Amino acid sequence: MRNLSILALHGPNLNLLGQREPGVYGTVTLDEINRLLEQEAKSLEAKVSALQSNHEGALVDAIQAASGQHHGILINPGAYTHTSVAIRDAIAAVAIPTVEVHLSNIYRRESFRHHSYIAPVAVGQISGFGPESYRLGLIALVNYIRQT
Ligand code: DQA
Repeated sequence: MRNLSILALHGPNLNLLGQREPGVYGTVTLDEINRLLEQEAKSLEAKVSALQSNHEGALVDAIQAASGQHHGILINPGAYTHTSVAIRDAIAAVAIPTVEVHLSNIYRRESFRHHSYIAPVAVGQISGFGPESYRLGLIALVNYIRQT
């Protein structure tokens, strides 16, 4: 399948990347991550549409609206990873293949970050490689969609 359409969703506080806790999240900005995804998408013959929101309901709305519009979802749910049954249920409801990514390795951090509500409804999770998590996640998602 050529011209695959992928929705990249960025959760709360990820708009602050570049200035937010650089020791944990690095200095690359969200715009730079989106450009990295666009570049990688081009070489995969796919297209990425990116959206960031600090609001749980807006992310749920975007996941619902992806139905029939996008073939896959790449999501960094930020702190909602550890709290949001609503985002998990939205992903389960639309049944669009979803890959969860994190800049930091959530399992090396505080114990409250060790549980993800999203992981059980995702195809898989990539955590700990900084911006590279997104690129690896996109490649894995596109390959998964093309193989199934
Ligand atoms: C994060 C990890 C989360 O625990 C945290 O709340 C974030 C960013 C990451 O990309 O490493 O906001 O999802």
